[in-house]
Amino acid sequence: MGNLIEIRGVSHAYRTKSGPLPVLKNLNIDIPEGSFCAVVGPSGCGKSTLTRLIAGLMIPDAGEVWLHGERVTSPRKTVGMAFQNPVLLEWRTILDNVLLPLEIVAPTMPRSQKEARARELLAMVGLDGFETRRPSELSGGMRQRASLCRALVHRPDVLILDEPFGALDAFTREDLWQTMHQLRAREPFTALLITHDLRESVYLGDQVVVLSGRPATTQSVMTIDLPGPRPLDMLYQPEQVARLAQLRHEIQIAQGREVA
Ligand SMILES: Nc1ncnc2c1ncn2[C@@H]1O[C@H](COP(=O)(O)OP(=O)(O)O)[C@@H](O)[C@H]1O
Ligand SMILES: [Mg+2]
Repeated sequence: MGNLIEIRGVSHAYRTKSGPLPVLKNLNIDIPEGSFCAVVGPSGCGKSTLTRLIAGLMIPDAGEVWLHGERVTSPRKTVGMAFQNPVLLEWRTILDNVLLPLEIVAPTMPRSQKEARARELLAMVGLDGFETRRPSELSGGMRQRASLCRALVHRPDVLILDEPFGALDAFTREDLWQTMHQLRAREPFTALLITHDLRESVYLGDQVVVLSGRPATTQSVMTIDLPGPRPLDMLYQPEQVARLAQLRHEIQIAQGREVA
């Protein structure tokens, strides 16, 4: 399979009062269709900026972003996004929150069909029975599950996750990691995950891209060739522990705390 996303020599600077702030510099990333790309890098290095460029919410100063063989030059409806804060609408039920993207991308789809799709996803993440609840009636982990359903309901080309599990406690986070693998097994999708959690990147990623400090460039790419759902205890096996140590080392270089 080819690449669904290609980031080619992307550089970008924000224009600020005190002059240009370069955030990305000659960034290159390839994400094959159906694969899961985890991106780690120092705080403030430009990770969220990268997600906005892929979603077409911003155009880079230099270089190109390609999605499905098309150059991204405007906002994409075919991108699903989820963030650390699930931003669900309190005046809508969980079901109606999940339906929101379909109302925008598929306005002519019959309500029954939209609902069937949303209920199918909610069941996959273990939220059947909570369709008519309001967001505030759910735990943080459940809200994040609903937010994942909302991001996937319209079968986006790419799922972009910007630190989605960062606010959850460790065990809830691990449950959500397993749910991600289960979702992928049921319904393959291409994903870009921004995370600060190296274990998360190794457990979920088919590749882990380490970004350098700002302006971010591709510092290293680690391939993790382990198709299919992974057992959680894989993280404690020597091969993965070695990967974590390697990534830890890369992050220290990215933070400028160690010479390469
Ligand atoms: N709209 C903006 N205007 C000016 N500076 C910005 C803007 N958005 C982000 N920045 C700055 O760009 C840098 C990278 O931001 P961001 O992509 O959010 O980093 P990360 O997600 O890796 O923490 C930060 O220093 C941030 O303060
Ligand atoms: Mg960010």
